[in-house]
Amino acid sequence: MSGLSVVFQSNSILSLKKLIEQPPPPLRGRVGVGGVAGPALTSRSLHTLEPIMPFLDCRALTFRYEDMRMRFDFAEEAGACVAVIGPSGAGKSTLLSLIGGFERPDSGQVLVDGTDITDWPAARRPVTTLFQDHNLFAHLTAAQNVGLGLDPGLHLDADQRRDVAQALEQVGLAGFETRRPAQLSGGERQRVAIARCLVRRRPILLLDEPFAALGPAMRQEMLDLVDALRRAAGLTVLMVTHDPADAARIAGRTAFIADGEVVMFDKTQRLLASDNPAIRAYLGCAPIRGEFIRPGW
Ligand SMILES: Nc1ncnc2c1ncn2[C@@H]1O[C@H](COP(=O)(O)OP(=O)(O)OP(=O)(O)O)[C@@H](O)[C@H]1O
Ligand SMILES: [Mg+2]
Repeated sequence: MSGLSVVFQSNSILSLKKLIEQPPPPLRGRVGVGGVAGPALTSRSLHTLEPIMPFLDCRALTFRYEDMRMRFDFAEEAGACVAVIGPSGAGKSTLLSLIGGFERPDSGQVLVDGTDITDWPAARRPVTTLFQDHNLFAHLTAAQNVGLGLDPGLHLDADQRRDVAQALEQVGLAGFETRRPAQLSGGERQRVAIARCLVRRRPILLLDEPFAALGPAMRQEMLDLVDALRRAAGLTVLMVTHDPADAARIAGRTAFIADGEVVMFDKTQRLLASDNPAIRAYLGCAPIRGEFIRPGW
């Protein structure tokens, strides 16, 4: 397990440069859940009752931006999709940065499949990240933008070119290889960015509000695409979103983050129906008979 691709919700260009600083390791074969050899079953810090076999394990991660102190503690099993919700400034992107290796915690550990990757450089982590925008280089074609995930110098061999074509096909963009970002819709651009994540074959996919700028129908389409790819490749997905409907659509569990902490981490329907005041205040609605009431959720 090694390697990483990351781009950021903000500072995207900077992060894209970080992404291509180091070539990814050879990536062959299926990624994900096979042979999970993590620690024994645990419910540590889950804020929920179900025991899980941790695959992505953030242990008492502390981090500080000036006056903002954060502490993240949660674990999720392989192949799951977790939604990360919470108020603006709560620390959602920071959590993703800590997992992706763009920020280093002051204390605590990030473990993946039982391996401590806290000190691993970003580019070698078993993680790939999709950001809200600026995921693509405007002067490169769709195929070249995807190819960057395999070789920053774009010296691709025949196998790698086949991987690129296959990834574009997987995201529904066969035939779009030579288009540049300006010739693509917003949804198509994010599909290209997803294809680049796919060719990197990292088992953990982090999504930082990547579909926030898309309309409802396109967003649902993209969420369903992510879900299908997660199932096909056994990816473990963490998705930051401000829309609870996104969480309800594809996330088995949801983490609610406020003031730099995971306040609650539970099954999505349960969390969205929780009477926790901070969650209710964030969602802006009250549960009725413990049920989730907004249509579409
Ligand atoms: N580079 C930085 N330097 C100093 N403070 C920062 C930096 N990046 C983020 N912060 C602060 O850390 C806190 C958490 O920011 P973060 O971007 O993680 O929030 P968020 O939950 O992703 O918010 P949003 O929903 O608006 O994207 C905020 O108070 C923010 O101002
Ligand atoms: Mg953010």
